[in-house]
Amino acid sequence: MLELKGFACGYGLVQAVEMLDLVVPAGKITALLGPNGAGKTSTIMAIAGHVDVQRGEVRFENHDLDGRSPADRTRLGIALAPEGRRVFPDLTVAENLLVGGYTQTAADARRAEESVLALFPRLGERLRQRAGLLSGGEQQMLAIGRALMARPRLLLIDELSLGLMPAMVDLCFEVLVDLKRQGLAVLLVEQNTHRALAVADQVVVLVSGRKAYEAGGEQARCDPDMVDSFLGIREM
Ligand SMILES: Nc1ncnc2c1ncn2[C@@H]1O[C@H](COP(=O)(O)OP(=O)(O)O)[C@@H](O)[C@H]1O
Ligand SMILES: [Mg+2]
Repeated sequence: MLELKGFACGYGLVQAVEMLDLVVPAGKITALLGPNGAGKTSTIMAIAGHVDVQRGEVRFENHDLDGRSPADRTRLGIALAPEGRRVFPDLTVAENLLVGGYTQTAADARRAEESVLALFPRLGERLRQRAGLLSGGEQQMLAIGRALMARPRLLLIDELSLGLMPAMVDLCFEVLVDLKRQGLAVLLVEQNTHRALAVADQVVVLVSGRKAYEAGGEQARCDPDMVDSFLGIREM
């Protein structure tokens, strides 16, 4: 599905991530964890085409992504729900979704909207509301919904649960599990290590821009030292 080989990314002379090998398979949730500043957002933004890849290869379904614009990557099947959600506050919920479907034909966008609203019925109740008036959880649903409007096969999510009420966090995680069952590849960056571990099929930990740990979900869940050693924090 998605494969990074010898990958490095960053900003001009600043290297944020180096020597990263990563495979993100279809039908699975891959959790990318690590402390603040580890390079998680940079990695996701580089896959989406918004941050420079400085070295190595990024391949998606046999396409080399080198030189492809963010829009091209969306057309190939890669969608992003960015850190901070970044919905368009002055547009309505329906308009935000429409923006996400800009690569689709009108008929495909309608079908995509139907499935997004089936996944997030709350958005259906708020279609004419300005997105800026939604709660944080609803904005996250909208950010994911907007990404899904492109009918992706790879979904990149940066900080799913940050700042959300627990009930919303539950709902968003349930949707992720639904999506992977539908065959999507999910690359999830998440502050809440325990929540991420609970759904992850594989776990990669970045520390200071380098891969410090990698394991299957089951193995990571049975590894009591993992969180302490690599993340240095205990969360509930
Ligand atoms: N726009 C930028 N310009 C220069 N350096 C940046 C920029 N964004 C992030 N960085 C640096 O890249 C490193 C990784 O940051 P980031 O990918 O945001 O980490 P994380 O998402 O894991 O918290 C940090 O050292 C950060 O200071
Ligand atoms: Mg980040």
